[in-house]
Amino acid sequence: MQHRTLGGQGLEVSAIGYGTMGLTMAYGPGDEQQGLAAMGRAHELGVTHYDTAELYGMGTGSNEKLLGRAVKGFRDEVVIATKFGFDFSTGRFTGALDSRPATIRAVADNSLRYLGVDHIDVFYQHRVDPDVPIEDVAGTVKELIEAGKVRYFGLSEAGERTIRKAHAVQPVSVLQSEYSLFERDVERLFPVLEELGIGFVAYSPLGRGFITGTAKPAGQYDASDMRNGDPRWQPGNFEKNVQAVERLGALAAFKSATVSQVALAWLLTRGEHIVSIPGSRSPGRVEENIGAADLDLTEADLAVIDEILPRGGFGARYAQGQVPTWD
Ligand SMILES: NC(=O)c1ccc[n+]([C@@H]2O[C@H](COP(=O)([O-])OP(=O)(O)OC[C@H]3O[C@@H](n4cnc5c(N)ncnc54)[C@H](OP(=O)(O)O)[C@@H]3O)[C@@H](O)[C@H]2O)c1
Repeated sequence: MQHRTLGGQGLEVSAIGYGTMGLTMAYGPGDEQQGLAAMGRAHELGVTHYDTAELYGMGTGSNEKLLGRAVKGFRDEVVIATKFGFDFSTGRFTGALDSRPATIRAVADNSLRYLGVDHIDVFYQHRVDPDVPIEDVAGTVKELIEAGKVRYFGLSEAGERTIRKAHAVQPVSVLQSEYSLFERDVERLFPVLEELGIGFVAYSPLGRGFITGTAKPAGQYDASDMRNGDPRWQPGNFEKNVQAVERLGALAAFKSATVSQVALAWLLTRGEHIVSIPGSRSPGRVEENIGAADLDLTEADLAVIDEILPRGGFGARYAQGQVPTWD
């Protein structure tokens, strides 16, 4: 497995990581044993980067606890990233943000306890909170780093102004945002990341599972699966996206690879500062996805991909009103 350095503070991770979100939310009910097996398989195959969040356990810690159990035997070999920034003070998720310093400190202590670790490797602000100056957020994470509770600072779905202001207080090692063959808006921030020496983590790198050839029409997923309401799955967009994935599938077959491997290998060609964190509950699919790190895409392959999806997929990445606005 190839490794990449993210940012200027020494953070090093495997080129393909593992995202735990789908184990407890977003894609219908999960299976704990299967999740543990998937995370263990990732480690066996060289993954050293695991991504979770307070949000993925809806404030209960369920996702972080599961990850903590999975990495118990090899915690020192891996980088654990988690995130703060939502308000769970009512005991449930309302979508409200909360990056007040006292909340950040409390979330850090909870995450340490849930994960069963003595430090968090990467601590991200999950969403920019317009009610809390980013300097205060960065200053709070800086204190956590000085206290030894956190190693590196990350931002998720932040824009240029926020990144610059945060970086001036506490160097940002990594930005995490959605990035895939279906979602390319974030490329406009890459020059800023390069200028400031910040790494990039691509989330939902398989377009929430669409760029794998397994997408079903909206309505055919479990009722709790967010893809039922995802614009890319709605009639009009769905058929066009399926067609694009079928064309990618033809290229993948020609390369003796799979569509998901082409999608993940493509991301790795987009810059030395880029890694991805695909999620899967299946050990077999984890293995498939990790195979992308060994797939070479030629200039000719990249030209074919560009011709199939020159600007991303069809349909917005979140339902109306939910697409994060970058400041
Ligand atoms: N910062 C943020 O705001 C944010 C937002 C979203 C996600 N994330 C992070 O990014 C990670 C990954 O994102 P994601 O889970 O949304 O999307 P993703 O990795 O693009 O796709 C996950 C979906 O693809 C399916 N899948 C994975 N590999 C497959 C394969 N080889 N063949 C067929 N299907 C496959 C999975 O199903 P199975 O489980 O059934 O295999 C799952 O439904 C998350 O776990 C989370 O850590 C961060």
